[in-house]
Amino acid sequence: MSEVTDISVDFAGLKLANPVFTASGTCGYGDELADFTDINALGGFITKSITLKPRKGNPTPRIVETDSGMLNAIGLANIGLEAFIEEKLPILEKISAAVFVNVAGETIDEYVAVTERLADKKAIAGFELNISCPNVDKGGISFGTEPAQVARITSAVKKAAGQKVLMVKLSPAVTDISTIARAAVEAGADALSLVNTFTAMVIDIETAEPVLANKTGGLSGPAIKPIAVYLVNKVYNEVTKGSRIPILGLGGIRSASDAVEFIIAGASAVAVGTANFIEPACAVKIAEGIKKYCRRKNISNIRELAGSLRTGSTNSL
Ligand SMILES: Cc1cc2nc3c(=O)[nH]c(=O)nc-3n(C[C@H](O)[C@H](O)[C@H](O)COP(=O)(O)O)c2cc1C
Repeated sequence: MSEVTDISVDFAGLKLANPVFTASGTCGYGDELADFTDINALGGFITKSITLKPRKGNPTPRIVETDSGMLNAIGLANIGLEAFIEEKLPILEKISAAVFVNVAGETIDEYVAVTERLADKKAIAGFELNISCPNVDKGGISFGTEPAQVARITSAVKKAAGQKVLMVKLSPAVTDISTIARAAVEAGADALSLVNTFTAMVIDIETAEPVLANKTGGLSGPAIKPIAVYLVNKVYNEVTKGSRIPILGLGGIRSASDAVEFIIAGASAVAVGTANFIEPACAVKIAEGIKKYCRRKNISNIRELAGSLRTGSTNSL
């Protein structure tokens, strides 16, 4: 057994107590979870997407459960930038976990305006650029599927972010995620997060209509985990390996072993989303479980684990 087990991570220059974040849109702005879990025991916290003006989001129903997952078509409902600064920032100031504000918008100017206004706020460690939301007509995923567009928005927001870390959140719904990841990194992204949800549909066979009012929604939860692990490994191998750009891996994580899979695949840190709806304290438990795993495997520093996937042996059945 290793005597000291260090699971703290350097994430784009931020020193995190452990590699576990909560994912955007699944924990509000911090106060919603406060009665159920200790956010300070996390490495990082990511807010619900913030836009310049408040948004009501899509009509209901906008959530439906599926086998091993759920579909959501919330449509970036949020309180808007000014209410966020007035009501939520004071709460986030008290959190010791690294706070990332997830930024969304319909135009590049809107993304820039939100980021610029928040760039000097002490409570904020960094921004997560949401160019991968599948549930809105304008903006969202439309910024994240074409490399030139990804480069344009990343470099504009990077300038607006000043000294803060800029993490770009990628969509899995592209032909080659590495091309998109490379465009973001070359345009100045300090970190990448992957993945956002997969566009999907559930049909009510009695009415022959889609269950969601928006018709489609984003699939999340355990159902997507093996695809997300694969995409993290692909981006790690093809884009970030050997560089200083960390990956935040997410998609279906609900246990420490899920999280360890992502880290072995190449993630420096992980985020927990849908699982929070089942067990709000699970992210903290996952951080503890990662530590136990490292102890059991004699890993003294979690850095040894990141990207440690072995592919040398061939399994012939
Ligand atoms: C109800 C719900 C709301 C979400 N809202 C956002 C959001 O506002 N911005 C964003 O970037 N991602 C949002 N996501 C995506 C998650 O952050 C995450 O990328 C995705 O759900 C995959 O992780 P998971 O399987 O652990 O949930 C949302 C997901 C869910 C389930």
